[in-house]
Amino acid sequence: MDELIDKAARIILGSKLTLALTGAGISVESGIPDFRSRGGLWDRFDPEEYATIYAFRKTPEKVWQMLKEMEGIVDKARPNEAHIGLAELERMGLLQCISTQNVDNLHQEAGSRDVIEYHGNSRSLICLWCNKRYDYREKKGEYPPKCECGKILKPDVIFFGEAIPPSAMTRSSQLASTCQALLIIGTSAVVYPFNVLPRQAKQAGAKIIEVNLEKTVLTDHITDIFLHGKASEKVSQVVSAVRELRGL
Ligand code: APR
Repeated sequence: MDELIDKAARIILGSKLTLALTGAGISVESGIPDFRSRGGLWDRFDPEEYATIYAFRKTPEKVWQMLKEMEGIVDKARPNEAHIGLAELERMGLLQCISTQNVDNLHQEAGSRDVIEYHGNSRSLICLWCNKRYDYREKKGEYPPKCECGKILKPDVIFFGEAIPPSAMTRSSQLASTCQALLIIGTSAVVYPFNVLPRQAKQAGAKIIEVNLEKTVLTDHITDIFLHGKASEKVSQVVSAVRELRGL
């Protein structure tokens, strides 16, 4: 067994409270592009024009051009071995919660039950004018989707310039400052305030296990174990090692 995988598995087995933080990289092998890798979403759509709440209020039809393309991709996406492995760790009682920046619902589809949607979830739509909410399936195929009041609906995801849902922020912060092990998977860790969580965990004495295709701003500063590679491979290797060490 790979020495780093073995160390990561032992940390997870010895941790009384383990939190996972995930980003777009965990869903790339499910066919959903991330944002900042070469060829990622922000290479093709300027986030200033497509991902801020100001852009949405000013030109919602334009933003829906990107959202429509993303919706088609997310609809076809299925959980990969990384999502499935985290759900298994939860079932084994070795992972208490996932706080994800992703809005693709793949953790839930993989069977994870305790998922904090830090940036909301694309499965519901909201009207910024009359606050009415819809399930995205009610407006399937309607672009841009409209509220009964006539205004264009927004996916219930957090755009730049919007506040993080208070409950998501509070609970993620509480868990980050009390966990003994932190798994950080597929995030560049550059977006505030999510990127405060790993530092909070480090300050609280947690062991930091990072999974990424490349080094991030965290790797040389707070990461204890860097599992360099694809999320699906590394997470499934860690889960197998946990099973082996547990004698399952
Ligand atoms: N396995 C592991 N890591 C991967 C993989 C993979 N198969 N593919 C990509 N990665 C890594 C990249 O190296 C990168 O570090 O995942 C990370 C993805 O980083 P970003 O594209 O910046 O995505 P994320 O960190 O989730 O962005 C945070 O920014 O644009 C906003 O709201 C958006 O939630 C998003 C937030």
